[in-house]
Amino acid sequence: MKDSFGRNVHSMRISVTDRCNMRCDYCVSGDKLQLRPAQELLSLEEIETIVRAAGTLGFDTFRFTGGEPLVREGVPGLIERVGALPGIRKLSLSTNGSLLARHVDQLADAGVTGLNISLDSLVTERFRRITRGGNLARVLEGIGAALRKDRFTVKLNAVIVRGINDDELDELASLTLNQPLTVRFIEYMPFGAWRAGGENEPDPTISTQEMMQVLERRFDVEENVSGPVGEGPARYVKIKGAEGFIGLISPVYQPFCERCNRIRLTSDGHIKSCLLQDDRFALRDWMRGPEYSYSELVMRVRDAVLLKPREHSYSRGLDMSTVGG
Ligand code: GTP
Ligand code: 5AD
Repeated sequence: MKDSFGRNVHSMRISVTDRCNMRCDYCVSGDKLQLRPAQELLSLEEIETIVRAAGTLGFDTFRFTGGEPLVREGVPGLIERVGALPGIRKLSLSTNGSLLARHVDQLADAGVTGLNISLDSLVTERFRRITRGGNLARVLEGIGAALRKDRFTVKLNAVIVRGINDDELDELASLTLNQPLTVRFIEYMPFGAWRAGGENEPDPTISTQEMMQVLERRFDVEENVSGPVGEGPARYVKIKGAEGFIGLISPVYQPFCERCNRIRLTSDGHIKSCLLQDDRFALRDWMRGPEYSYSELVMRVRDAVLLKPREHSYSRGLDMSTVGG
């Protein structure tokens, strides 16, 4: 459906859990995840009902995120049921990849065609530090299993942080040379451990423009290529002759709000009409109470779309881990 600025909003991102088996620095602000008690999380049935309501408004693209979506039991089954609803065109999953190897078959059977996997470093110890405990080998195994399945559009997401992993742009980009996958470089938004730089110290955020300059020093980069299937904000380029693509996502230096096509459902049952604002439309308690009706639910989802802001401003009330990026 169209929002009040004429944007076609047809994509819903569903955080199925706030639990995660990693605590990436850019995603989690403190030592601990911001977790809700289990009864405050939507049940899988409640999620399915909200998706059905969104479907009647023209939503046809659904991405399942977390926390880490694969730590919640029953998610492939939920995705399969969502896929059976009328008008659904695309089902994708954003994951940290650690539990992927054992789930790829189920996900393919459930109708998932897009897998976005976080991968911020190819150095074992550094990966463990960034993710606070993540195991790089397991993630690479998950990526390998996804590629072998030959059913998914695989995109690897790297948030580039100055002084942490910016020396790996070339190595990460090289993954696209001989593999059918996309590597996407993302500007670090001010969440998690982000701190502004000081007088002689630049901000940790590196613009995609600066990243491109680094890539162009090493590779012959073709611009304005059409890129892999996707509904998101990335701009794509390609190393000449490479099998895969490189994506650049620039929420900080070149915001893409005028092309925004999405709303989010949080695991605790709120709709967020913009990732970066705290305006949230509470559904859960109302859905569990006597006033609930399905037709009213459709209207509430519609209202969330109509109240979508023109542009984002950064509110840091919620960690990214609670909304799934
Ligand atoms: P596809 O291109 O369809 O694969 O979708 P996508 O690019 O939206 O996928 P993904 O979930 O991997 O998003 C990539 C990253 O882009 C996120 O992790 C965020 O860093 C950023 N991003 C996605 N959506 C938004 C948004 O609505 N606002 C802002 N500011 N950043 C976003
Ligand atoms: N800046 C940019 N992207 C972020 N993500 C999480 N936190 C940030 C941030 N501060 C995105 C990353 C990650 C996904 C789960 O959310 O792409 O892979």
